[in-house]
Order: sequence, then structure tokens, then C-alpha cells
Amino acid sequence: LKLLTIIGARPQIIKSAAISRAIKTKYPTLVQEVIVHTGQHYDREMSDVFFEELQIPRPNYNLHVGSGKHGEQTAKMITGIEAVIETEKPDCLIIYGDTNSTLAGAIAAAKVHTPIVHIEAGLRSFNKRMPEEINRILSDHVSTYLFPPTQTGFDNLLREGFRADNAPPYTVDNPGVFNVGDVMYDNSLYFSELAAGRTDLLERLELKPGQFLLATLHRDTNTDEVDRLTTIFEAFQAITTSYGIKLVMPVHPRTVKQMNALLDARLFQTVQNNPNILLVPPVSFLEMTLLEQQAKLIMTDSGGVQKEAFFFEKPCIILRPETEWVEIIESGAAVLCDATYNRIMEAYAHFEHFPIRSVTPIYGDGNAAERILKIVLASL
Ligand code: UD1
Ligand code: UDP
Repeated sequence: LKLLTIIGARPQIIKSAAISRAIKTKYPTLVQEVIVHTGQHYDREMSDVFFEELQIPRPNYNLHVGSGKHGEQTAKMITGIEAVIETEKPDCLIIYGDTNSTLAGAIAAAKVHTPIVHIEAGLRSFNKRMPEEINRILSDHVSTYLFPPTQTGFDNLLREGFRADNAPPYTVDNPGVFNVGDVMYDNSLYFSELAAGRTDLLERLELKPGQFLLATLHRDTNTDEVDRLTTIFEAFQAITTSYGIKLVMPVHPRTVKQMNALLDARLFQTVQNNPNILLVPPVSFLEMTLLEQQAKLIMTDSGGVQKEAFFFEKPCIILRPETEWVEIIESGAAVLCDATYNRIMEAYAHFEHFPIRSVTPIYGDGNAAERILKIVLASL
């Protein structure tokens, strides 16, 4: 059986490691995985590093679409993926998450009737101003196999008319919906020990375990709106100064670009001169996992990072007005602070007094990828 995997953005490359690993260990002869990299992310530290570190097979195709406006970028991807489907004639196409690469795969495959497996289906922010929300909804509604990573994702799909009791054979008009857990939990468990050994990074950055904050930022609303970008950096500045704590921030290329373009020169300089703020290039997944394991608290607008904060039982300040991962908020392990100065400061003070201790696992048992393959292979 031939599975065609579409990846392109950093988190998708990482997610795909779990499925590639499960294919290699469980179905090395039955399944042939053909990987298409759209080229949405292309810097070494946004792409290549993950293939090397996470033992992901090299892509069979790279479409090299690069950056661009939504329509232009997605259109190039659709054209490229359509051609690969024509050549490879896969039995199904796997898409991950909610990026433009996800949507492009969905549109290309749906029109030529190739069954779509959507991993991380069903998540909703209920905010259609997010490009990701559009990508998710459209991709889900042309998929044949939908794998929400949480009960909330599963319930969202039922509310949109999907049925839990469809029987195989599954088709786009009779799709199968299964809550099997989160492939990112598989990965965090699998790579956790390996990451814990990477302590040379802490030495290099002069960080002491448990005594630093970790931050990431890349959502378009936060990077492209000057007021929000400014407020977030003012809050980082205030926290690191008044609490005398270090903060390490692996900076997404989009954010580098926008900090240079939008941030007031004085604030930018203050941040750069602050010895407690370490702005570093994006790090590898193992390095990121180590930073998450060892941080005191995490501040982020990333979907993946807020969840990993939860996996490693770290309090999280979410720099967004809403989240698709509502369970984390309900557990008390994270607070939605948007890009609001007072809310960020209050949440930080709260976690100083009430650090979280343990959380109930809600993302499966670390075997989501194997379950996904079992379901798909049994009914293709
Ligand atoms: C994309 C996804 C977002 C996901 C994020 C993960 C969409 C609409 N957005 O956002 O859902 O959370 O990836 O990181 O698909 N750039 C580089 N080098 C790179 C990649 C990007 O310099 O290797 C810069 C370019 O200036 C580019 C900008 O980053 O224009 C944005 O990249 P893009 O892939 O369009 O969106 P992301 O913000 O990365
Ligand atoms: N990540 C990484 N290096 C970094 C920043 C993030 O390996 O410098 C990983 C992180 O651990 C998570 C994933 O990238 O697994 C999240 O990707 P991102 O924040 O880009 O996108 P999102 O999850 O918001 O779509």
C-alpha cells in the first residue's frame, strides 16, 4: 500500500516522525510511504534539522514553493501535489494539522478522489480570522479518515455533522472519525529521554534547570500587529527585570522579520541589551524538548508548544485570545492572556505562587500513530 504524506511547515515535519516511525516498526514491507515536502518552510533550522534528528525519511519530492501570499503559496502547492498524485497513484494521502500545506493537500487529493487521512482533525478556535481555522474546516470536510487528538476535537466534528457510527468501507461521503490520541504526545514520550541528555545547550546558554523562562511567538496577529508585538515584548522586559529571571526565546523567522520591521527602535534595543533576554535562532526538536523540560514557565502562541508545556507539567501563559487545546486551560495549567500586558503580568504572578504539580494525561497513551495506521490499513 502506498501512502502519500504531505508536509511543509515545521510542526508537520515533527508530527510526521511518529507515523514514519510506526510504519518502519510495524509495517516495513506492507506500506510504502512517499513523502512530499511542499517547501513552505525551508531554512535549515525550520526543516532539515528535523529530518536528521528525528530519523524521518528524506522527502521523495520537494516542491520548493517557499514563502508568499496565501493564495499564491497554496496554489503552487496544489499544482505540485496534483502532479505527484498523478505520478504516484497513492492509496491515500496523509495531511497534518492546519497549515497552507494541509489545505493544499486536501484540495488536490479530494478532486481526484484520493482518500484523505487528516491527522489532528476537528480542532477549532471558532475564530475564522485565523488562516489555520479556515484550513482546518475545509480540510476536515473533504477527508475520509479524521483523527482528532482530543475528545473536544471529536465532539467538534460531531457538531459539524460527522457521525461516530459510520461503518467501513469509509469514503468521503461516509467518513470515519476516531479519537486515538495525539501523535505529538507519542513524539514527546519517545524523544523525551534523548532530549534530557542534551544538557550542553543549557551550558552554552548559561541557563540553570528550573530557573529560566521559555518563550516562542509566531502567530500572524502577534507578529504583524505592532501594538500586540510591542505589548508582548514590554511584558517580557518587565518580567525578566522585576523577577530577575532569564528568558530564552528561539525566534521564528517570521518574528525576526517583523521585529525588525515594526518594533520601535528603542524597545528593540532595550530588549537586545537586556542580559536576561536571550534571543536565539530556532532550535532543534530535541533542544526544544530539553528547554521545555527544564523551564520554570513557558509563554507562547504556538499550538504545539502550549501542549508540550502541558506534557512536561509546566505552567503556560498563552499569548492568544483563544485556544483549540481547551483542556489545558480547564486543567489550570495554562492561562489565556492574549497580548494584554496586565493579564500576562497577573498570570505570571499567579504561577509564582501556585506552580502546577501534576496533570491528568488527556492526549492518549503514546501509541496514536500505531492506532491510526491500524485503522487506515484495515479499511483501505
Ligand atoms: C505557518 C503556518 C502556521 C504554523 C506555522 C508553524 C500557515 C498559514 N501558517 O506559519 O499555521 O503555526 O507555520 O511554524 O500555513 N520564513 C522564513 N524561512 C522559513 C519559513 C518562513 O524566513 O523557512 C519567513 C518568511 O518571511 C515567510 C514567513 O516566515 O513569509 C511566514 O512563513 P509562512 O510559512 O507563510 O507562515 P508561518 O508564520 O511560518
Ligand atoms: N519547535 C522546535 N524548535 C523551535 C520552536 C518550536 O523544534 O525553535 C517545535 C516545538 O517543540 C513544537 C513545534 O515546533 O513541537 C511547534 O511548531 P510551531 O510553534 O512552529 O507551530 P504550531 O504548533 O503553532 O503550529
